[in-house]
Amino acid sequence: MKKTTLITGAGRGIGLEIAKIFASKNENLILTIRKSNQKKNIQNIMKNYNCRFKIFVGDLNNLNFIKKIGKQIDYVTTIINNASGENQKYFTDVTEKDLTEMINVNLIANFVLTKIFVKKMIKKKIKGNVVNIGSQLGKIGAYNRSIYCMAKFGVEGLTKALAMDLGKYGIRVNSVSPTKTIVKKSEIKNSKRLNLIKKKIPLGKFSTTEEIAKIVYFLTTNSAGSITGTSIMSDGGWTAGK
Ligand SMILES: NC(=O)c1ccc[n+]([C@@H]2O[C@H](COP(=O)([O-])OP(=O)(O)OC[C@H]3O[C@@H](n4cnc5c(N)ncnc54)[C@H](OP(=O)(O)O)[C@@H]3O)[C@@H](O)[C@H]2O)c1
Repeated sequence: MKKTTLITGAGRGIGLEIAKIFASKNENLILTIRKSNQKKNIQNIMKNYNCRFKIFVGDLNNLNFIKKIGKQIDYVTTIINNASGENQKYFTDVTEKDLTEMINVNLIANFVLTKIFVKKMIKKKIKGNVVNIGSQLGKIGAYNRSIYCMAKFGVEGLTKALAMDLGKYGIRVNSVSPTKTIVKKSEIKNSKRLNLIKKKIPLGKFSTTEEIAKIVYFLTTNSAGSITGTSIMSDGGWTAGK
């Protein structure tokens, strides 16, 4: 059977780029998006590739949405937990709603979805992969990022613990942790903020969506056959030192 990769948050940004690279490798795709208006764009992009794909539209905060995917899809060889919100509020301004949504999408949805599909992998004896998209902010703190850091540190912890539990089945679990990555043209307008960020990156450049997607794909290949429970940082050296 053809390899089948499930990607959350595949409607835009890094998730969409990851979908493209797996499609270019002739894998089948299961994509989750939140907004149905992203469907058309994905369908147009996928015309360039020889791959079969299915799109599920829904909010990952809703666990019934995830369970519905589990009922319809039986065969998945790679799970990529990419979807996340962002939040740049000062600690005391963060609302309970902000907190719940951040934890839900990064941790609860990630956990529940991974559990559903890993159980299927184990049953079918698939030596598959789980790749979680973390962040350099899963390694270090930052101003105004309390809940984002909290969630992304959790993603790194989940990655390591699952690697321990699933190693005996040959299922590898890793994370890819980017620094600032430009995903929207509109971001480039705020050049003052971007220049401040760039100054903290020894390589003096942001990560690109293509770089992140290629690292994710690499982790699912035989070349990465001994890599599990770790995180590949794509941070241009930001966290290497002061
Ligand atoms: N870009 C960066 O600088 C950067 C740096 C470090 C780490 N990361 C991580 O990389 C991953 C992708 O980020 P990105 O920059 O590509 O972000 P993005 O452009 O904001 O995309 C995030 C995706 O997640 C989806 N999503 C968010 N909450 C959801 C929910 N409750 N239910 C369903 N889908 C949901 C979004 O759907 P909608 O389109 O409907 O909003 C979107 O497709 C994230 O895990 C992020 O934390 C990004």
